[in-house]
Amino acid sequence: MNRHVVVILILVLIVFLLPSPSLAEERDLKEGRALYLKHCKICHGPEGKGDGYTYFNPPVADLTVSKIQQKSDKELWESIHMGVPNTSMGMWRFVLSDEEIATVLSYVRSLAR
Ligand code: HEC
Repeated sequence: MNRHVVVILILVLIVFLLPSPSLAEERDLKEGRALYLKHCKICHGPEGKGDGYTYFNPPVADLTVSKIQQKSDKELWESIHMGVPNTSMGMWRFVLSDEEIATVLSYVRSLAR
């Protein structure tokens, strides 16, 4: 076989065999967005600014601000999983799987200013 053909075949193989994090991330964001729109938007607002349902006390969190975004993934994951006591933020573990919580959290991360 011609050497060039071999090189091209190897390059094509590398491109196909490499995991594509950007594609996986994109898929996660799409799924996360769908989950967010379905379950979270009603309170947190279309862009997470806490402007969905504004009559709760304490008020719904603005998910875009650094006060929330600076919390660790673990902390936020737990807030979604277990809810926040004495607020309207519910226990999503009854609705979403662990993986779905991680997926919706990755979308929440993308809402940061
Ligand atoms: C019924 C209204 C309501 C819905 C629906 C809701 N939330 Fe919340 N959420 C709240 C309120 C209220 C707070 C603020 C709690 C507080 O005062 O700490 C909050 C806080 C949060 C926080 C910040 C937690 C922290 O540790 O400070 C995150 C993250 C969050 N919500 C994500 C979500 C996600 C993701 C969904 C959808 C799966 C969702 N919320 C659905 C009302 C809601």
